[in-house]
Amino acid sequence: MAGPEKEVPRKSIAERKLLVDIRKKAEGSRKSGKPFWHWRWTDSKLEPGDDPLERQKDTFLASFLSVLPEPYEDAKSLRAYLEDAFAHKKGGVVAVEYGGPGSQLSGSFTPGFLKKSLGVALTDFREDDEKAEDGTRNHAVLAENVLYQRAFRAVDEWLAGDRCDIVFERMLGGLRYMPGDPDALMQPLQEAYRRLSDDGIMFVQTPVVLNDVLVAWAEKIDLEFGGVLEIQYSLGTHDNEPHQTSSFRIRKLPGAPEGLPILSREELRRADGQQ
Ligand SMILES: C[S@@+](CC[C@H](N)C(=O)[O-])C[C@H]1O[C@@H](n2cnc3c(N)ncnc32)[C@H](O)[C@@H]1O
Repeated sequence: MAGPEKEVPRKSIAERKLLVDIRKKAEGSRKSGKPFWHWRWTDSKLEPGDDPLERQKDTFLASFLSVLPEPYEDAKSLRAYLEDAFAHKKGGVVAVEYGGPGSQLSGSFTPGFLKKSLGVALTDFREDDEKAEDGTRNHAVLAENVLYQRAFRAVDEWLAGDRCDIVFERMLGGLRYMPGDPDALMQPLQEAYRRLSDDGIMFVQTPVVLNDVLVAWAEKIDLEFGGVLEIQYSLGTHDNEPHQTSSFRIRKLPGAPEGLPILSREELRRADGQQ
C-alpha cells in the first residue's frame, strides 16, 4: 500500500495572494466579531429531537444523512451511529466542531456520553448563561480562525493530551471564508485528522465547486487505503442549503495512516480537468 502523498501543487503568485486575502478576510471577521449575514447565530443541533416543530433541514443530519452507513441512514440517526461507534468509550468521548460553536451539537448527545467537547468558530457569540450551561457539560468554544496554525495550537491546549473521537465541519455559508483551492482547504482538514483518535470519525462538508476533486480523492482513499480508512461521500448542489451540501464521512480503522492522504499534483490536475 502506498504511503500518504506529500506532494502538493505549487501555487502561482496570484493564487497565493488570493489565499492570503481569504485568510485576512476571515481574520478581520474574527477580530471585529462581525461576521457576515445571519449565520452569526447559527448553532445547529445534531438532529431533530422529539419536538414536532424541529425540522431535520436545520440540523447536521440534513447534511450528513447520505454519508451514514445504511442501517443508520434508514433510521435517520447520526446520534445512534456515533453513540454505537463509541459505545466502548462511553463517558470518555471527545468531540470537536470546526467552523461552528458546537454547543447545541454537543448537547444533542445522550447525557454522559461525551467527556468534553469544543467548538472552533470565528466568533464566540454565547451569552453568559449559555456559557454557564455549556460549562456544566464540559463544552468550550474557541474564537479562532482554522486557516491559521494558531487555532490548532489552541485546540491542542484544550485537548490536553486527549485525541478527538468525533469531528464535524459544516460551515454552510461560512464556506465563503474558506479557500476554494483544494490543497489550501486540505490543510485544516489534515490538522483535524492528525488529532483524531485511533478509531476517530470525521464528518466534513466540502464546497460544491470541488465536487470533482472530492470524487477523485475519495476514490483514491478507497483504492489505496480501503482496508484502513472507511470513506463515504455525497455530491451536493448548494453550499448554503443544509440538505444539498457535498460531504464525506471518514473513519479510521486499525492501521490507518497518521496523516490524511491527499491527491498528488498530477491527480489534482486530472481531477480539476486541467489536462
Ligand atoms: C453558517 S455558520 C454554521 C455553524 C454550524 N456549523 C452549524 O451548522 O450550525 C458558519 C460558521 O463558520 C465559521 N467559520 C467561517 N470561517 C471560519 C474560519 N476560517 N475559521 C473558523 N470558523 C469559521 C463561523 O464562525 C460560523 O460559526
